[in-house]
Amino acid sequence: MGHKKIDKQMKQIEDKRAKDRIFKKDSSFLKAEENVFDIPTLKLLYTFSNKGYIRELGGSISTGKEANVFYAAGDGGESAVKIYRISSATFKAMDPYILKDPRFTHIRHNRKDIIFAWTQKEFQNLLRIQKAGIRSPKPIVCERNVLIMQFMGQDGIPYPLLKETILDDESARLIYDQIVEAMRRIYVRALLVHADLSEYNILIDTENMQPVIIDVGQAVTLNHPNAVEFLLRDVENIKRFFKKYGIEEETKDLLKRIKQRTEEDDIISADAEEETEKEIEEKTEKEIEEKTEDETAKQARGED
Ligand SMILES: Nc1ncnc2c1ncn2[C@@H]1O[C@H](COP(=O)(O)OP(=O)(O)O)[C@@H](O)[C@H]1O
Ligand SMILES: [Mg+2]
Repeated sequence: MGHKKIDKQMKQIEDKRAKDRIFKKDSSFLKAEENVFDIPTLKLLYTFSNKGYIRELGGSISTGKEANVFYAAGDGGESAVKIYRISSATFKAMDPYILKDPRFTHIRHNRKDIIFAWTQKEFQNLLRIQKAGIRSPKPIVCERNVLIMQFMGQDGIPYPLLKETILDDESARLIYDQIVEAMRRIYVRALLVHADLSEYNILIDTENMQPVIIDVGQAVTLNHPNAVEFLLRDVENIKRFFKKYGIEEETKDLLKRIKQRTEEDDIISADAEEETEKEIEEKTEKEIEEKTEDETAKQARGED
């Protein structure tokens, strides 16, 4: 038997034992998800549980194309745990959003690194969107492919999607205006474009008819080469949805509203700008570091 094969078998045994260990410590924890996630993901969830972020993992809220979302209760209250699946993520689709974002161009182009960067990006975008005064889940913690955020719902039930909410014309108008205001704040304050905004990524707090913006992993900075195209697509999605409630606004008028800024916006966006610059700076430092490491390794191998 070749070494490679033995190594592989040893690794499989190790993985199996790691899996057993994880489940022995708390047999109810994640039992059902055993086959969905890889060992490092399960270990990470276990670490989060030891740190108190997740005391109890509740039911599955959603199984999407790239990620699963679970309800969880932790020391800080209820949360939503979004887990990107390393194995089945359609990560090619992520490329255009992440590879041209100046904050993320340094990442290595392999599947895992793209997914980790994507999770990180969603966390940072959530932070920026929060700071811009938009109703959205507060990010709590994120590592590798797991993001923990505030649970948006009531009595353990997530708020319904805009798509599923039954509206009369009056409440539709109220929600429409709040969504446009959210788009404006995302644009002029967070300096981002959502890039996947539609009735599927807006929840409705039915108590007070407030929209909640979610799913911001693909949101891009305004200097992203496709930012304008993505903004137009968002605008068209929102227009299409509200047309059935008799709301029709010219694209150019809507864009004008979204881009309108006040002094208050300028103060908030200055922070966002500074953050982008800091992120780019850190990225450059990391790049230099990596290049230096590569060079050192080359020299050690006697190459030039
Ligand atoms: N913070 C949250 N609180 C409550 N429910 C959430 C939260 N985040 C996501 N969800 C639910 O999970 C679903 C999928 O989340 P989303 O972020 O849109 O992932 P996907 O990339 O799979 O579309 C949403 O439609 C929503 O119902
Ligand atoms: Mg979504």
